[in-house]
Amino acid sequence: MAQGYNFGSCLPRAHPALSVLSNPPYRLLVTGATGFLGGAITAELVVSPHWTSTHFLVRADDRRQGVERIRAALIRFEVDASDLARVTEDQIILGDFRDVDALFADPANLAQLKAITHVINGAAIATFSNHPQLWPINVEGTFNFARKLSETARLQRFVHIGTAMCVGPDAPVPVPEDYTPPATIRHLVPYTETKVVIEERFKRELPNLPLVQARPTIVVGHSRLGTRPSTSIYWVFRTAQLLEKFTCALTDRIDVVPVDWTARTLIALALKPTLKHHFYHLSAGLQAASTFAELDVAMARGRGVAPLGAKYRQATYEELAAMRGEYQARLGPCNPRIMQRAIKLYGVFAALNITFRNDHLIDEGIAPPPPFAQYADVCAATAEASTIAEQMVADFK
Ligand SMILES: NC(=O)c1ccc[n+]([C@@H]2O[C@H](COP(=O)([O-])OP(=O)(O)OC[C@H]3O[C@@H](n4cnc5c(N)ncnc54)[C@H](OP(=O)(O)O)[C@@H]3O)[C@@H](O)[C@H]2O)c1
Repeated sequence: MAQGYNFGSCLPRAHPALSVLSNPPYRLLVTGATGFLGGAITAELVVSPHWTSTHFLVRADDRRQGVERIRAALIRFEVDASDLARVTEDQIILGDFRDVDALFADPANLAQLKAITHVINGAAIATFSNHPQLWPINVEGTFNFARKLSETARLQRFVHIGTAMCVGPDAPVPVPEDYTPPATIRHLVPYTETKVVIEERFKRELPNLPLVQARPTIVVGHSRLGTRPSTSIYWVFRTAQLLEKFTCALTDRIDVVPVDWTARTLIALALKPTLKHHFYHLSAGLQAASTFAELDVAMARGRGVAPLGAKYRQATYEELAAMRGEYQARLGPCNPRIMQRAIKLYGVFAALNITFRNDHLIDEGIAPPPPFAQYADVCAATAEASTIAEQMVADFK
């Protein structure tokens, strides 16, 4: 481990000035590493000096399969073959949030868990659908895991990944970092409710947990790889452009961040020696949030077509539903009934015109993300490789 390690070598694009932990022993545990955000975090770590101090909680039959699952996650981020070889079985902790007791009862796991000092907790069910495991995993399993780990290890920091969208549709905009939604908050989907409840339980029932609440806004694509690692949510933008109508106005702003910046920021929040705050929005904020007009231009450039411009019209859900007969012609092979439901669900979010203040990140010296319009062309070009129906699957697990 290089002494006085500078973030510049690990995080060159977003956080050139930050220094992070340089004195071993520290042990970082990443949960959710096989997922979209977790895979991006792992791809950043594998080329950093933190790698040999990093462990992963993985669902797998054995450690060998755990290694293969981490490698598969890295392959999605187009990590070099030589770096894939750096994943080793002793980095793998086998476990499932659905059975936390079993996880801690395994002696091999326990030895590793005892040494953990820092955590990035990304494991969750992240879906807008009504998944039966949302509460058992996002609330009960997550809580039990954090409680047991804080009893087992000498934790110095527990970065929990929440979601900025959990504040509900009635929050003041741009949403301040100290905003607390009222108890009567209206949740658009059960997922956001689970994310609020677990944060409240951490604060109320585990007051000694060294909790850092990191709430990313909508994460779309990768600033260099576009949608190749995941098509999550990009298909909604693609749908809007192909329908030439959606629930937002061209002048509305949308707060989107790329997954690589999100990953680097989460690593910074986990390993920066001191933090000034306990709560962070990982967001573009009002300054860097792109308008739909800017996105229209960027996406059209990526597809090699003319922007819609004045051809685009803001529409109600009912108007979009009335176009159902045109879905297949415009959007490619799809089930129009499922597409209509998806448009209803995501159309509500697209109409929010919501942004999140990111003063706390700026205060830490962390650079803001590139605006979505700066890399939406890469997303548009890479998204042409598959159909919208195929791309939606990422969000309807
Ligand atoms: N994507 C976004 O736009 C976004 C925005 C804001 C916040 N977030 C938050 O970021 C976090 C990661 O989201 P994501 O989009 O990366 O989700 P994702 O791609 O679905 O990944 C979820 C991860 O959680 C793991 N997991 C699920 N159930 C588990 C269980 N019972 N035990 C242990 N691990 C389990 C999955 O492992 P398996 O591979 O074994 O299923 C996977 O590694 C979530 O907390 C989400 O709320 C995401």
